[in-house]
Amino acid sequence: NKINYADITISAVSPSQYPKEGLPEIVLAGRSNVGKSSFINTMVNRKNLARTSGQPGKTRTLNFFNIENELFFVDVPGYGYAKASNAEQEKWGRMMEDYFSSREELILGILLVDFRHEPSEHDILMYDFYKHFNVPVYVIATKSDKIKKSKHNKHESIIKKALDIDPEDKFFTFSSFTREGRGNVWDALSAHLLK
Ligand code: GTP
Ligand code: MG
Repeated sequence: NKINYADITISAVSPSQYPKEGLPEIVLAGRSNVGKSSFINTMVNRKNLARTSGQPGKTRTLNFFNIENELFFVDVPGYGYAKASNAEQEKWGRMMEDYFSSREELILGILLVDFRHEPSEHDILMYDFYKHFNVPVYVIATKSDKIKKSKHNKHESIIKKALDIDPEDKFFTFSSFTREGRGNVWDALSAHLLK
């Protein structure tokens, strides 16, 4: 799981800008502040490849990160940002529809949720959105360092139940602080890429 090459290829606003490499793509979605950028940085062992921004809701593009010329992580703007206007939300929705309805490279959706909290309405909609497009999903519960080990099972079942998670979909706990889960997620991704 040592990563030698990782770089942002493009921040795309429209399908004509999506990369042409034809590599498999793994989409990352989650509400603002859930730890998406930190997740990418931890996975690739970089401090600041995906900027951890102080301005939630600012990114309005699909960010394609080339990992080892083997796959792309596609970072989508965080949803559920309270100050996003209706127009912005509509734009977000259209961008997602464009991508999901046409992108053959898409092989997996990752849904990041905060391990501490019951999934929000937006989280549930995002999970259902993935399922609507028949994408396998990994649910990754972030900030696991904030929850005592003795409570992990309880939080895991609350999240799975709220999402009504498909038994085929995988669940992981993850922490960018302790790096818990990084190895497990890479193992699963590697196996998934070989399928
Ligand atoms: P936006 O891009 O603004 O939507 O946020 P994001 O989802 O990319 O989250 P980001 O990675 O920027 O992290 C948001 C905040 O959560 C930061 O203050 C991080 O330090 C913190 N954070 C991220 N990952 C973890 C984690 O594993 N554990 C803890 N305790 N905090 C974390
Ligand atoms: Mg971010």
